[in-house]
Amino acid sequence: MYNEKVMQVFSNPQNVGYIEDADGVGKVGNAACGDIMEISLRIQDDTIVDAKFRTFGCAAAIATSSVATEMVKGMKLDEALQLTNKKVVETLQGLPPQKIHCSVLAEEAIKAAIEDYRARQAKA
Ligand code: FES
Repeated sequence: MYNEKVMQVFSNPQNVGYIEDADGVGKVGNAACGDIMEISLRIQDDTIVDAKFRTFGCAAAIATSSVATEMVKGMKLDEALQLTNKKVVETLQGLPPQKIHCSVLAEEAIKAAIEDYRARQAKA
């Protein structure tokens, strides 16, 4: 069902884990499949300097988490907010149609983590 690139990333995912004392954390889920994705970010000077994920989900969810966390490292927050699931899918050289929702989780988790960071900043 998956292409070689997806299988390669799934078999050797990058950025697995959780950043202690993260600056922003985003946790999202898909009610239909029950999968959950959590992304934690380290942010300095409006730039994402580190990103990690914990994903309780399918192979596509794990592969998209890995690719998305790799892509946002080094990005300014506004740039990272532009990251779409489409770009993540392109990087994975495609996903089966029934697995596109898994990549949406990655986009949503990054956005949620940035929103969490901004909410914390507003309170500080
Ligand atoms: Fe739900 Fe992949 S099947 S995230």
